[in-house]
Amino acid sequence: MKKIHMVDTKGQYEKIQSEIDEAVLNVIRSSQFIGGPEVNLFQQELATYLGTKNVIACANGTDALQIAMMALDLKPGDEVITADFTYVATAEVIALLGLTPVLVDVHPDTFDIDVNAIERAITPKTKAIVPVHLFGQCADMEKIMQLAKKHNLYVIEDVAQAIGADYTFTDGSKKKAGTIGTIGCTSFYPSKNLGCYGDGGALYTNDDVLAKKINMIAKHGQSVQYYHDVVGVNSRLDAIQAAILRIKLRHLDNYALARNKAAAYYDKALANNPKFKIPARAKNSTHVFHQYTLLLNGVDREKLKAHLESKSIPAMIYYPVPLHLQKAYTDVRYKAGDFPVTEKLCASVISLPMHTELDEDTLKYISESIIEFVK
Ligand SMILES: Cc1ncc(COP(=O)(O)O)c(C=O)c1O
Repeated sequence: MKKIHMVDTKGQYEKIQSEIDEAVLNVIRSSQFIGGPEVNLFQQELATYLGTKNVIACANGTDALQIAMMALDLKPGDEVITADFTYVATAEVIALLGLTPVLVDVHPDTFDIDVNAIERAITPKTKAIVPVHLFGQCADMEKIMQLAKKHNLYVIEDVAQAIGADYTFTDGSKKKAGTIGTIGCTSFYPSKNLGCYGDGGALYTNDDVLAKKINMIAKHGQSVQYYHDVVGVNSRLDAIQAAILRIKLRHLDNYALARNKAAAYYDKALANNPKFKIPARAKNSTHVFHQYTLLLNGVDREKLKAHLESKSIPAMIYYPVPLHLQKAYTDVRYKAGDFPVTEKLCASVISLPMHTELDEDTLKYISESIIEFVK
């Protein structure tokens, strides 16, 4: 059997190798390493794919979140509500800018931010909500947008794990994840659903004025070269990464199909076992399965992980510690027990290999190995 990876970027590359190699060589031959046509075309093509007016590429997903908060003029003392169960980047930029992260719990089935908890956390100081579309499906954006409208809040979607997912509103209309709020922020880290071969990220917005400001902030706060209107940052996607992403974007929907096929196999093989729960699907969102995450019930997770490792099956814990219990985010406002859903998830989730190159033999072997252990 092929070696089993959490994410098989090599196997995926081999299928499009000639296209990628040519695109990379073309950039090298052109000597246009920063900015230029590849970056511009990628931004346009991604905007078309997403159905949004503006895509501004930047250096990584963490920068995208930071630039979004800078562009919205969030100031120290402003409160920003986000999920306790997420990758640290989401809260990190809030803290870094001197804003106040307000953490809330997540929904026990979808693992996405709990809308009722958001509502309870809103105060007169709240300026923005940052829903994270965790593991590949959208948070309940219709309700989040209603709350935002009622309280006059910005919504910054963290779409690092859910690029390409579709959200369906109650009137039947659909929008791509990241294009519903004020700004969407994504990451092109290699293991992401649309991953480049280094670091990369982007912001999306339908607001042209905001797009100009985002662009300016990402480029040292300059609107004209060497004229700096605001304090900005240096955050750019390089042309080689843009060229790679242009090719991979054409395959993104097929990649989502491949991930869904793998998820469907796992679902069927692992359904109805009292020892674990397969991923629930959000009602209004498609799932692009950035992760396939089981919720264990009375199973020793470390022993299961060791069992899988002994059979050359990798598995990961996303995430082992809730944000409010991380050393860097210790805060008098929070203590153990405050976010019971997140705390339970951190103690009981395990993510299985999930990528575009999984075949049935591998999926069968992984599923059987899990069942064998819990028996
Ligand atoms: C939910 C979430 N937000 C933000 C990021 C940050 O992206 P990057 O690693 O490109 O900075 C990531 C990915 O690492 C993520 O998973």
